[in-house]
Amino acid sequence: MPRDLTRPLVTGGAGFIGSALVRLLLARPEVERVVVLDKLTYAGSIGRLPEGGKHPRLTFLRGDVADRETLVHLLDFHGITGVLHLAAESHVDRSIERPDDFIATNIVGTACLLDVCRHAGIPLLHCSTDEVYGSIEAPGVFTEESPLRPSSPYSASKTSADLLCLAAATTYGQDVVITRSSNNYGPRQHPEKLIPRMIQCALRDEPLPVYGSGLQVRDWMHADDHGSGLIAAYLKGAPAGVYNLGARCERTNLDLVRSILSILGKPESLIRHVTDRPGHDLRYAVDPSKAEHELGWRARADFERDFTATVHQLARELV
Ligand SMILES: NC(=O)c1ccc[n+]([C@@H]2O[C@H](COP(=O)([O-])OP(=O)(O)OC[C@H]3O[C@@H](n4cnc5c(N)ncnc54)[C@H](O)[C@@H]3O)[C@@H](O)[C@H]2O)c1
Repeated sequence: MPRDLTRPLVTGGAGFIGSALVRLLLARPEVERVVVLDKLTYAGSIGRLPEGGKHPRLTFLRGDVADRETLVHLLDFHGITGVLHLAAESHVDRSIERPDDFIATNIVGTACLLDVCRHAGIPLLHCSTDEVYGSIEAPGVFTEESPLRPSSPYSASKTSADLLCLAAATTYGQDVVITRSSNNYGPRQHPEKLIPRMIQCALRDEPLPVYGSGLQVRDWMHADDHGSGLIAAYLKGAPAGVYNLGARCERTNLDLVRSILSILGKPESLIRHVTDRPGHDLRYAVDPSKAEHELGWRARADFERDFTATVHQLARELV
């Protein structure tokens, strides 16, 4: 049976990617109402949502994905037809300092949501990350069959959630789909993350702290492309299917920081190399061919144009 998108629940909808996804969902005629469940941690903000969360076809609920009672009630009360699960603790540096919240939300929260969806007979799309594969040397790329070798507490918690989802599909025949996306850029990202942080420093003419050599490679994809990939995977993904989402747009962190400085008209002398993050993965690269062929999805953004637009928009948000 095709999955129903008339009344989706988006967990983590007040976050960076969740709020981009909510906008895409509200633009679709078959979506009657989007329900957002978000705990509003330090990383969440209702102000990111369309019309500050007051859009007429949006219901915002503050709550925790690890709170079973709330979940059971809200799926029933709001007539939820499917769940797009993005709620997570998402910052690698914080996971290294203190993994507890990552375990509570990313693992226990996902397990709780899975269980409630199973009892309600509702499909679950789990939004994961390419970081579950660990690091790979060029020119290699990870496919969905590659071994899972997470390096940080963050990526280990996301890997655990992926495995719980796959186990639920095998054990109970539960309808679960997993996406693994590369790094995202776009508006409304929390200032602790690389791109907004560098923009903030540049705007203040403060040194831009670049971890180690800055030669770490990431594949950069616009948050809207991630959102459209999540919707495509929800609608067309095979049960227990795993789909890599990437843009084939590799840049070193140093190149990215140089681009930010050039877009903002600031000198490269502001760059400061600082002690590298422990266990820092050198390169992430996923092969998105499976998603392109099976889901009919592809990343559409033009990096030069859309990254420049993102830097200007974040600069306006951050002042
Ligand atoms: N940002 C990226 O580049 C990227 C890349 C690949 C995958 N992802 C995944 O995408 C998802 C969203 O990432 P993001 O960058 O938007 O993160 P984010 O930190 O901006 O947003 C996370 C949201 O989840 C909410 N949240 C946290 N704990 C919660 C809980 N227990 N219950 C309910 N809500 C809770 C927060 O309040 C916040 O609004 C995450 O699952 C992340 O692993 C992100």
